[in-house]
Amino acid sequence: TAQRTLVLLKPDAVQRGLRGEIIRRLEAKGYDIVALAQRTADAEELAAHYAEHEGRPFYSGLVEYMGAGPLVALVAEGVNVIGGFRSLAGATNPTEAAPGTIRGDLACEKDLPVIQNLVHGSDSEESAAREIDIWFPELG
Ligand code: CMP
Repeated sequence: TAQRTLVLLKPDAVQRGLRGEIIRRLEAKGYDIVALAQRTADAEELAAHYAEHEGRPFYSGLVEYMGAGPLVALVAEGVNVIGGFRSLAGATNPTEAAPGTIRGDLACEKDLPVIQNLVHGSDSEESAAREIDIWFPELG
């Protein structure tokens, strides 16, 4: 079934000039981009987006990392794009992410309290609906 997913090109991706490379992979796979915006996330957006991680040991580092500079939020559309984008992204930890994936090819684990891994993709239809509403309320 056709789905939409919320993708973030995190501040490390923007800072390293990897927007084009990551968007190229998404488009080359055949997904469509139906909305795209670059901005620096504020504390309220990040608290909403990462509500499920509140209380985790890496939470404050995560909010600091995600607010440290501009990010690109986009909505991708396609059949099974939620799982499909997560396959393109690879495992959360760049060390474990397979070669051929965004994180496996382009990210390297750093000695930091939070894992910096270039991209986020929604993990379920429920998360996608919730996250699209946070970043692109006008699509609702
Ligand atoms: P993301 O898919 O955006 O969801 C939560 C983020 O927290 C994740 O990507 C990583 O950037 C980070 N993260 C997840 N698990 C851990 C962990 N165990 N230790 C540090 N950072 C993590």
